[in-house]
Amino acid sequence: MADVSLNETEATLEQQLIEIRRELHREPELSNEEFKTTAKLREWLNTHDIRILDLPLATGLVAEIGSGAGPIIAIRSDIDALPIEEQTHLPFASINPGVMHACGHDFHATAILGAAFLLKSRESKLPGKVRILFQAAEETGHGAKAILASSGLADVSAILGLHNNPDLPVGTFGTRTGPFTAGVDRFVITVRGTGTHAATPERGEDTIVTTAQIITALQTIASRLTPATEPLVLSVTQIHGGNTWNVLPELVKLEGTVRTYNEEVRQLIPDKITQIIQGIAAAAGAIAELQWYPGPPATINDAHWANFSKEIATQAGYQVVDLAPQMGGEDFAFYLQQIPGAFVNIGTGRPYSLHHPSFDIDEAALLPAARYFALLAEAALNKLDQA
Ligand code: NI
Repeated sequence: MADVSLNETEATLEQQLIEIRRELHREPELSNEEFKTTAKLREWLNTHDIRILDLPLATGLVAEIGSGAGPIIAIRSDIDALPIEEQTHLPFASINPGVMHACGHDFHATAILGAAFLLKSRESKLPGKVRILFQAAEETGHGAKAILASSGLADVSAILGLHNNPDLPVGTFGTRTGPFTAGVDRFVITVRGTGTHAATPERGEDTIVTTAQIITALQTIASRLTPATEPLVLSVTQIHGGNTWNVLPELVKLEGTVRTYNEEVRQLIPDKITQIIQGIAAAAGAIAELQWYPGPPATINDAHWANFSKEIATQAGYQVVDLAPQMGGEDFAFYLQQIPGAFVNIGTGRPYSLHHPSFDIDEAALLPAARYFALLAEAALNKLDQA
């Protein structure tokens, strides 16, 4: 009998989570604009009598389950969507034109909400408190900083976070010790010269040819100016210059990103870029300038918590794999600079990659992820309590 009622409860929870995920998916909101999403999460938490901390956050929120002077651990989801036009044709596809949950943050928020429901039902048994994070603005790389500044993580001993991974089958769990996602920086380069007639380039400085040389030379940062043993990707992703066929423009603008793991290597990059662009521009008589916009550093998983998260994943019935480092970025890195913890991947087995307009997740991954994070949080509290 007990088994039957448990199965019924699980089936009800699964159905609930699927509906919640679809509701979030239907109304995606961009970074720092997650007002409706936050209101919905607040309502679902209120319905389950889960307390929400009073923090100075415009969007996103932090809830808390448990009581007493025991340890505190945090589980984190993110809630923002991307400026992408959805092409999934799902019945619950985005109704907000040009905005889509193309990174599966609807899945993350729902899984962590499900974990909160499960933890609430065991609140009296928890030897401490669990902070439940629904973080805004992950995609812009600044949401984690807002949570840290809000004191939402005060006295937290460890933090655990997830990302869906469409390349892993449902039922598979992956993580690693050490660097997991890369440090992400953005750059803008401006090349200026005197514009001139296309027929008489000698009367000005050809910013187009200069820019072409700069783009090629920038690739030598990875191949010649940093150690081959340190991963580094430099990609130029935008070029804007000129507006007609027979004039050489005064101005060309480039934009791109650099991905690294090693913080020392990362700190060298702006100077290397400046050296290259100024040298090439000077040879042409032009002027080049760099604007540098640092994003999140590399996500460095703590060995203890990465191993602990794998142990619990095995107990929860996941197939556990060690993943290779990824060159994508994640602002969870800011938490790990201050609090030990681990970032993990949950397999959602779908053909399209993150940020693709046809991106989707397999909803069969939802309930297991919710159960896993409830189990992980409680096990972490027990472990810290005994320490
Ligand atoms: Ni994401």
